[in-house]
Amino acid sequence: MPSFMEPFRIKAVEPIPFPTPGERREALEAAGYNLFRVPARLITIDLLTDSGTSAMSAAQWSALVSGDESYAGARSFERFERVVTELTGFGEVLPVHQGRAAERILLHGLLRPGRLCVANTHFDSTRASVLATGAEAVDLPVPVPAGTVLPFGGNIDLTALEHLLSGPDGGRVACVVLTVTNNANGGQPVSLENAAQTRRLCRRHGVPLLLDASRFAENAYLVGTRSPAHAGATPRELARAMFDLADGCWASLKKDGVANIGGLIALRDPELARRCADQLIETEGFPTYGGLAGRDLDALAQGLLEVTDPAYLRYRAESAGWFAERLERAGLPVVRPAGCHAVYVDAGRLLGHIPPHELPATAFAIELYLAGAVRVTELGTLVFGRPDPAGGPDLPAPSELVRFALPRRVYTSNHLEYAAEVAGEVAAKVSAIRGYRITEQTGALRQFAATLAPL
Ligand code: F0G
Repeated sequence: MPSFMEPFRIKAVEPIPFPTPGERREALEAAGYNLFRVPARLITIDLLTDSGTSAMSAAQWSALVSGDESYAGARSFERFERVVTELTGFGEVLPVHQGRAAERILLHGLLRPGRLCVANTHFDSTRASVLATGAEAVDLPVPVPAGTVLPFGGNIDLTALEHLLSGPDGGRVACVVLTVTNNANGGQPVSLENAAQTRRLCRRHGVPLLLDASRFAENAYLVGTRSPAHAGATPRELARAMFDLADGCWASLKKDGVANIGGLIALRDPELARRCADQLIETEGFPTYGGLAGRDLDALAQGLLEVTDPAYLRYRAESAGWFAERLERAGLPVVRPAGCHAVYVDAGRLLGHIPPHELPATAFAIELYLAGAVRVTELGTLVFGRPDPAGGPDLPAPSELVRFALPRRVYTSNHLEYAAEVAGEVAAKVSAIRGYRITEQTGALRQFAATLAPL
């Protein structure tokens, strides 16, 4: 029995599919062994992502109806802008259709060839946007010594940052980014102290500090529970304290906007905001809707109010912690401590017999699908590795993780129990699992379209 309880009851339900083992194998072969290409109608429990997969509340569904679909200056934008400004303190608010549109527009405004974008860890779409400007993406995650568990494993390495900023390449740094929480690094939070020190360094060197605030509320909740100094503050206060340290942010609102689409750019600098708005008009739409329908803005405004509810965030963190424990009991090496939006399993450790270029994390994810139609994402060499320019085996990712993402308010503890059982079955026969090779790939985000073959 889990110790937590879902702080909501269910008002609308959707049946889930139960494909047979034969149907799963067939679907996988047809998809070139790429789980992104398997149709959702053949997935029982879909833990591929927490992005855009949330269940909206009754209040959000009713907000949709009052959406104002005026092209310019809609009431929906006014409500969205008010909620975002109250939450973040940033006066310049631009909606966009999702996070990567915000990244592309803002990073194109800040970067150019030869410049550096430095982050605790760039998410893959962020890295792709940085590279598209001709700049370089530098990751400086805090080092985590083997065998230790850090409460704020999402932090940036301040020593390395200071070294970079005051060294010969310091003048090339165009911005510093804190991704909160740090999705590409185990979904771990960034502490307020780390952000404050980062700001001090940025100020000293005249470099703007930006947040990728896609999971700002979950980060704030984890700050409150993991650092005794902030135990008395509400998640909303802690989120604001983090925003107060930055010059601006972008976010995919498909996460902590608790809705199915949306994103934003929010800034203090009106001049930078104006440049972004010019770009936005070219590619997203008029700045008061940014590629969204008016009703989406209403649902997002409501979601941004709900997401900092302490009872909701407690459930979110406790269900992730409970699921991590269930996976661990089923024999999986879990990245500890669990964050909120996902539980990460170290497939590199579990499948030590498969070298990185044979994609151990992908092999594990495929077995999970075959065993029980559970879909997860690989965050290993398929996503973060690169083809070797010299034609050798792929350059490996720093780790071979598999992410069990937790859609918001969608699955109950029974569903997660099932996913943990399936994972346990796979872990029990791990030595029989073989690796994969990539048969076709294109682009910087090769994981979405690549096809694979078993070795
Ligand atoms: N930043 C972070 C930290 C993200 O996790 C994502 C998306 C984005 C930016 C891009 O936002 O998808 O709205 O364009 N992460 C998803 C995931 C895809 O599954 O973690 P987007």
